[in-house]
Amino acid sequence: MEIAVVQSDVTEIEVDVLVVNLFESVTAPGGATGAVDSAMGGLISELISDGEITGSSSEMTLIHTPNSAYPNFKPARVLVAGLGSSDSFDLNAVRKVSASVIRKLRASGVNQAATILHGAGIGGIEPSASAQAVVEGVLLGAYRFLKYRTTDENRKTDVEKLVIVEADSSKIDAVKKGITAGTAYSRAEILARDLVNEPANKLSPADLAAVAEQVARDCGLDCTVLEEADVTKLGMGAYVGVSQGGPRPLKFIHMTYEGDSANPENNLWLVGKGITFDSGGISLKPGAGMGKMKGDMGGGASVIAAMQAISELKPKLNVHVVCAATDNMPGGSAQRPGDVVTAMNGMTIEIDNTDAEGRLTLADAIGYALSKGAVRIVDVATLTGAARVALGDGVSPVFGNDDDLVQSVLDASETVGESMWRLPLDSVTKKQNSSKIADLKNTGGRGGGSTTAAHFIADFAGDTPWVHIDVAATSMLDSTRGWMPAGATGVPTRSLIELAMRLGG
Ligand code: BES
Ligand code: MN
Ligand code: ZN
Repeated sequence: MEIAVVQSDVTEIEVDVLVVNLFESVTAPGGATGAVDSAMGGLISELISDGEITGSSSEMTLIHTPNSAYPNFKPARVLVAGLGSSDSFDLNAVRKVSASVIRKLRASGVNQAATILHGAGIGGIEPSASAQAVVEGVLLGAYRFLKYRTTDENRKTDVEKLVIVEADSSKIDAVKKGITAGTAYSRAEILARDLVNEPANKLSPADLAAVAEQVARDCGLDCTVLEEADVTKLGMGAYVGVSQGGPRPLKFIHMTYEGDSANPENNLWLVGKGITFDSGGISLKPGAGMGKMKGDMGGGASVIAAMQAISELKPKLNVHVVCAATDNMPGGSAQRPGDVVTAMNGMTIEIDNTDAEGRLTLADAIGYALSKGAVRIVDVATLTGAARVALGDGVSPVFGNDDDLVQSVLDASETVGESMWRLPLDSVTKKQNSSKIADLKNTGGRGGGSTTAAHFIADFAGDTPWVHIDVAATSMLDSTRGWMPAGATGVPTRSLIELAMRLGG
């Protein structure tokens, strides 16, 4: 889909469908919607007083305005999109209504459309932020994963072109900036979705590494892929232990973006969990729903995808991406509950449950980052089913050892509309990871499952500022929610991009 801005009076635009909007309980529309209403002889006002249009959130009313009946009005149809209450209006409301609009346009077989900026008038939102949110809502809301659907011939095709109409010439540059950012943010999040939705037979650790290498080539980044022999030599016993139960070779991915090469210590390390399929290993998962574990590389997908946008938007900061990719399988050479492994930093770990594999791979990925001089680490992982128990599937739990870095992550997530909430790393749950025979064990018992997992990782991050985002519940949805479709959400790709932009701004 192509998205552009044109400077024009809304009533003058020649297009299949013109999208305008309306807040709830507004009886006399103003601004651009008011101008369109007047040009249509007050039809929108009439539909409002009839109760046909209420302005409730994501209400879609398509009005045909043929030239024979409306000789002074150029657009062939008008779509009135409800914005909901003006009191609760924010960027998420812009994303949400934009997603509803683009799906409505697609369902109506529309090829080209124009829209006014939602919220930039009485909503009081800055034009660049509004434009970015419109683009994100449209691109992310239109997303479908259709790669393996070969027989669906009657499927509606996507809208080809969307034009944002802005009458005020002084706002055009801001709108352009918003379109550029929104496109980069969304394309990255869509890449993450595609990777998570990809079945495990089509996405091995080697395939994931090939994607990272392709992104690096396209974006002029460095990308190193380490093999099993390399990481064994580095002492990554925790990571290698996870991979030994399956035949597909592990791939340790390291991408580098140099936005401040004169100051290598001005860096941010993004570490993503990259389990390309999590069967649980010898501690085998139950069969029901196991297919969802194709998405257990969602953290890795989001950090690789974020790197694509970061290289386009160029923050003044060095960003490293690390993903210790592997399957977790129960083959004959798989590690067993009761085994003891030694991580890269020398710590020993008792394997209590082979299904708590993510923290083992992260321990060594973080060990590697520290060995290379990481000063800030943010890890992203589909780590614990307990995340859903704690916060549901709308909010990702966040943990960290540094208040400033935690706050930066929370602020970034708030801006892009990917909700997160900090949970404490308290001293009581920390004790649950104690082992009788090793330094640590990889499970922490019944209570606080997301917290004990975070404590485990914290022991490997040490004193270096570090934040952990558990996206086990938020990286895949069962049904569509606003701009997030059923299946992979791509969360928290846009938060990571926003974080890098703020740290390097
Ligand atoms: N990949 C899973 C966590 C997960 C669960 C992600 C549901 C997405 C949806 C992780 O490797 C895992 O199996 N965690 C265990 C840990 C337990 C064995 C301590 C869990 O949460 O049950
Ligand atoms: Mn697991
Ligand atoms: Zn897992």
